[in-house]
Amino acid sequence: MEPVTVVILAAGLGTRMKSRKAKVLHGAGGLTLVENVINTAAQVTPEENIVVVVGHQADQVRAALSHRRVQFVEQTEQKGTGHAVMMCASALRRSGLVAILYGDTPLLPASTLKALIDKQRDSGTAATLITTRLDDPSGYGRVLLNERGFVHAIVEHKAATPEQLAIPLINSGMYCFRADVLCRHIGEIRPDNPAKEYYLTDIVEILNRTGQTVAALEIADASELLGINTRVELAAADRILRRRKAVELMLSGVTIENPETVAIDAQVTIGIDTVVHPFARILGNTHIGEECLVGAGAVIQDSNIGRRVEIGPYTLIAASNIGDEARVGPFSRLRLDNEVGAGAHIGNFVELKKTRMGAGAKANHLAYLGDSNIGDKTNIGAGTITCNYDGAHKHKTEIGRGVFVGSNATLVAPIEIGDGSYVGAGSVITDPVPADALALGRGRQVIKEGWAARRKR
Ligand code: UD1
Ligand code: MG
Repeated sequence: MEPVTVVILAAGLGTRMKSRKAKVLHGAGGLTLVENVINTAAQVTPEENIVVVVGHQADQVRAALSHRRVQFVEQTEQKGTGHAVMMCASALRRSGLVAILYGDTPLLPASTLKALIDKQRDSGTAATLITTRLDDPSGYGRVLLNERGFVHAIVEHKAATPEQLAIPLINSGMYCFRADVLCRHIGEIRPDNPAKEYYLTDIVEILNRTGQTVAALEIADASELLGINTRVELAAADRILRRRKAVELMLSGVTIENPETVAIDAQVTIGIDTVVHPFARILGNTHIGEECLVGAGAVIQDSNIGRRVEIGPYTLIAASNIGDEARVGPFSRLRLDNEVGAGAHIGNFVELKKTRMGAGAKANHLAYLGDSNIGDKTNIGAGTITCNYDGAHKHKTEIGRGVFVGSNATLVAPIEIGDGSYVGAGSVITDPVPADALALGRGRQVIKEGWAARRKR
């Protein structure tokens, strides 16, 4: 089969976003707009055959896509969609077909892109474009068909006559060309319009003039073609992408209650029989095993969650690994770089930062554990605080296996607490505690009999 190159136009500014950031870098469904389009393209051609045209904030767009293997072509001045394609000519030499997509249309499914390419391959025309009928076609280029049903021309909204404005058939901006035909004629586009731009759409008339045909692929679901121009459309696209992700997960065996309230990013994976409760947000590079529970309002980012893990409501987990059958939350905060061992419990209002909790260890209530290494089966009492910061530097706390730290202990780091030891409630611990010892660091209780009664008299 002929090699397919996909060109993604992403050089424009996106004035109507009213943003300092290039439009294609805004996010929908947990990915930038342009990366959504790349993911679609990557399902029809190897990633090396995808060409992204960058211009406005080119460096930022390249950086945001540095983990991908796509090619970049720079369009230093944005002189129109036709001009953007001209910049790609040398990248198109060896391909048979060229699909052109816009970086601001993130909802196009790969199935529709495949249908476009298949139709072009089978039809023997010079090009095929995707069209649909809109109740309100304003703003879009209108597609003019000839008596044989081929595309005769595209007129931009601004240049259309009143009769043409009444045409509901719109140009989606997604095309598939025979590469040789595109390269031969792209240079013939002239900027003869009030905006002095090179309109890619003008190539349709040029092809017709030279006796070639352009076919139209009309699709029924216009929402697939939504182009993002404003933040209102961005929110609409985000909602559709989230809905698609939730449906994909539900069909693969995940239960999601009130799926319209949850946000699950594109790359997230979730094992079967896991249950996700309303308003959960599962973000970034997160992987959740089988038979877990993700509670209402939990926010999980870039984390690995084992099997049969219970994450209570309103728990925040970032960049952490949670072992099998652990229980975290409700209302816990795992800030960054934590390892929670199998079967460990992290309870309400417990904050962890750069901390390893051993298997079966527990910190069930109201604690701050930072830069700490906590052994298997150790129990951390309510209100325990690791004092890991001296105002200038962070220090480590090492707590052994099977330790019992009493409530409201203050552990001043750097500190080591040996295996099997006890720390009395309310202690301030500043010196190392040997294994199997009891450490007390608090004032002795004093009783003054009758004192209160005397005072009241
Ligand atoms: C374009 C089409 C219009 C179609 C509509 C669909 C033309 C002339 N018109 O209009 O028929 O109905 O899309 O959404 O093509 N871009 C560049 N370099 C440039 C200019 C644009 O890379 O010099 C990129 C933009 O970043 C964007 C895409 O091309 O991703 C489309 O540009 P835009 O200005 O939004 O075109 P429309 O006016 O919407
Ligand atoms: Mg547009």
